[in-house]
Amino acid sequence: MLKEKVIVITGASSGIGEATALLLAEKGVRLALMARREDRMQLLAEKVEALGSETLVIKVDIAVRDQVADAFKKVFDHWGRVDVLINNAGLMPVSYLDKLKIDEWDRMIDVNLKGLLYCIAGVLPGMKSQGGGHIVNISSVAGRRVWPGFAVYNATKFGVTALSEAMRMELTPTMNIKVTVVEPGAVATELTTTITDQDILEGFSKRTGMVPLQADDIARAIKYAITQPENVNVSEVLVMPRTQM
Ligand SMILES: NC(=O)c1ccc[n+]([C@@H]2O[C@H](COP(=O)([O-])OP(=O)(O)OC[C@H]3O[C@@H](n4cnc5c(N)ncnc54)[C@H](OP(=O)(O)O)[C@@H]3O)[C@@H](O)[C@H]2O)c1
Repeated sequence: MLKEKVIVITGASSGIGEATALLLAEKGVRLALMARREDRMQLLAEKVEALGSETLVIKVDIAVRDQVADAFKKVFDHWGRVDVLINNAGLMPVSYLDKLKIDEWDRMIDVNLKGLLYCIAGVLPGMKSQGGGHIVNISSVAGRRVWPGFAVYNATKFGVTALSEAMRMELTPTMNIKVTVVEPGAVATELTTTITDQDILEGFSKRTGMVPLQADDIARAIKYAITQPENVNVSEVLVMPRTQM
């Protein structure tokens, strides 16, 4: 069902994006991999091509509007269309508000929210003119529930969840652009490496009993959403580790 599809994955250099590329790779699938770490994407592209897919590796900082516009132009110039956008790039330098880590607040808003919007702008005109497509936004359980220390990350992910529902209403019935929001619980990836607040890190180190998901668990949820019949729009998928409250 994915044969001949052009699929863009942002945040493809690690974690959920990388696992999704590997799961979707098969003969006939064309995968555009986007992130900043080009070396990591080149290694992934070799594995994906060995599974039969064509790839395009595009180094881009999705917080920079012109870079994002250029990146999507490259995909449309190369393959003429984008069938699926997996809007996955993000970061999570969570901190308590009174630490005033304002640069980190800015970065989360710039990447998780504004960058995700720039990618939507990158595909929307093309999907409209080709008669349809599918946009999968990766939000989080943090787009449904709040915790102390997660305020700004929560704000970005609540934003992504709300945006996704409005997108579905605007784009799906009339333009045939499906919209899915995927909301993972804790997943074992590099996401926590940007945390600089020692109190948050100490709290994390004391957590016991919770076994996180693997990136592949979320990749399978994404694949499920994008391989449904034409008349089905999977709107929202919340995937939690069995042991997470
Ligand atoms: N892990 C979890 O527990 C969890 C739970 C819920 C939701 N999520 C969401 O899942 C998504 C993927 O995260 P992950 O867990 O797979 O973490 P990850 O391994 O850290 O992956 C994050 C990806 O985003 C990319 N990225 C970050 N900033 C970027 C920028 N400015 N421009 C382009 N790419 C950028 C990174 O690539 P470069 O550094 O190479 O640019 C990397 O490929 C995120 O949106 C995250 O919020 C994760």
